[in-house]
Amino acid sequence: MCGIVGYVGHDNAGPILINGLKRLEYRGYDSAGIAVWQTDDDIRVTREIGKVKNLAANVSPEEEDAGTGISHTRWATHGGVTELNAHPHRSWDKQIYLAHNGVIENYETLKSMLLSEGVTFYSETDSEVLANLIAFNLASQRGKVTTKSVQKAIRASLNLVEGTYGLAIMCASVPGTLFGARKGSPLILGVGKHEMMLASDASAIRARTSEVVYLDDNQLVTLTDERFTITTSDDSEVKPEISTLHWRDDEADLAGYEHYMLKEIYEQPSAVENAFRGRLDIEEGTSKFGGLNLTRQQIRQIDRILIVACGTAWHSGLVGEYLIEKYARIPVEVEYASEFRYRNTPMEKNTLVIVISQSGETIDTLEAQREARRKGYHVIGIINNVGSTIARENDGGIFQHSGPEIGVASTKAFTSQLTILSMLALYLGRTRDLSYTDGCEMLDAFKSLPGLVSQTLELAPAIEKIAKKFAHYDDFLFLGRLELFPVALEGALKLKEISYIHAEGYPSAEMKHGPIALISEKCPSLVLAPDDETLRKNLSSIQEVRARKGKVIVVTDSNEVPASLADELVIIPKAHPCIRPILMTIPLQLISYYIAVELGRDVDKPRNLAKSVTVE
Ligand code: M6R
Repeated sequence: MCGIVGYVGHDNAGPILINGLKRLEYRGYDSAGIAVWQTDDDIRVTREIGKVKNLAANVSPEEEDAGTGISHTRWATHGGVTELNAHPHRSWDKQIYLAHNGVIENYETLKSMLLSEGVTFYSETDSEVLANLIAFNLASQRGKVTTKSVQKAIRASLNLVEGTYGLAIMCASVPGTLFGARKGSPLILGVGKHEMMLASDASAIRARTSEVVYLDDNQLVTLTDERFTITTSDDSEVKPEISTLHWRDDEADLAGYEHYMLKEIYEQPSAVENAFRGRLDIEEGTSKFGGLNLTRQQIRQIDRILIVACGTAWHSGLVGEYLIEKYARIPVEVEYASEFRYRNTPMEKNTLVIVISQSGETIDTLEAQREARRKGYHVIGIINNVGSTIARENDGGIFQHSGPEIGVASTKAFTSQLTILSMLALYLGRTRDLSYTDGCEMLDAFKSLPGLVSQTLELAPAIEKIAKKFAHYDDFLFLGRLELFPVALEGALKLKEISYIHAEGYPSAEMKHGPIALISEKCPSLVLAPDDETLRKNLSSIQEVRARKGKVIVVTDSNEVPASLADELVIIPKAHPCIRPILMTIPLQLISYYIAVELGRDVDKPRNLAKSVTVE
């Protein structure tokens, strides 16, 4: 959580930093701030509660002829949402200015030590402690403050810190220089022409340069407009590897849509196509993946799969469990990454671990991956963000190529993950018992998917009307069976996240084991009723809800659901079961979106949330 941007170069830092922060706002939007050099060699700090637009309204970047600055958008951890707790933080002696993403776990001990030395504090944050610690270590050195002495003070301070950090730092005695460091929180260096940048992710940099260096944990970077050096914890210099970003800056624009979430919902035909492009092996009736880094032999030996993820990605893992077990007959378990990390899950020798993460930066998933690799398991990732830490640290993987997902509520990343998991089920199935004919049917399904997603999106106006009717309920149940149970969970999560309506997902048949007590005219249900062997059972569940005066929205691909049985009937196109969960998801995304809009919610930046969860 939290986004940081730093700039050193010949342009005005103000507008560059504000634009960068706007791109990173998905990481947190409790407060925002910038610290920039003024012409008079003074550093000016401006901080505002709330979104970046509040900050932008209060700085006049065009007046600031500053070529160096740092900035921050906050998701509060330590200390309330106040201007004093907003970043950048300044040391008591006005030497060190710092923007921090992460958590300093031992900040209380460090603060007591600094207080006993007479250092003063103005905020409740762990980050101010770090600013003061660096300044304290700097002041303890004799002689003139130089780039070297600042580096030394930063390194000495970081050696005392327990926790995580991505940092952008300026020192008042070393103009025209920025310092950055990371451990556990992402930090990227942008290498431009006569300018350099630091940022939590590439989206904040892309408008200025496509050349980036992904920094590793424990590295300290020092940058001026013309050069940068990276050192490791033993102070040896690292030869940087410069990567090129392949997506365009305008991919992160709204392109005329009112919200990123809606834009991303409508990007799903191409997101699913990007997920399967180049991965269908028509001749062999299977799919293919270039980056798993496993031999055919090793793939045949997999006797168990463990999927680890959080939130929406965990839901896609659950759908993956059903699909892989159905088509490949390999036992699959799905764990929350945060749970996996702290329990000693018994695992078979030939377990393949799959981590799923849109951002590739979720700390729980990253640490779960590290734990699994430490134990010697081969870990592959299904990741959207190519340069992310999870993607760089795993043993192999499958990139989603969905393009940037900005809306906090994940949409296109989820359906892209489902597409990949379904193709993986096909691939693993074809190394075992799945027939060529069955494989070809699945390939046909993938090829038809973008068209079917587009057809399903045509239901949007009808779903908007339904949403308006249902926007004022306080509780919802989402019901589905088999691979549509996790889709029901995902539908409930979407509604909770962006509309703040309480919603729960259940396997349809579980309803009568408890949740049925909630049913009344005040608690509607959304039932996923596919045209398969469970249809009759689902129709019975609907009857049971209706008998208790519950309103029902039915989403189905069957023509056999009597209109009289549902208060609202949404009929989606028929499809092969391996892609049906994808199509069933779309009406759920749309209904949540339109309910949130009807309630006037901030759809792309719902309260209390951040897109990328980089604290435990
Ligand atoms: O970036 P990741 O896929 O690792 O993120 C995992 C969750 O934090 C994420 O899916 C979250 O649940 C979304 N807000 C869901 O819409």
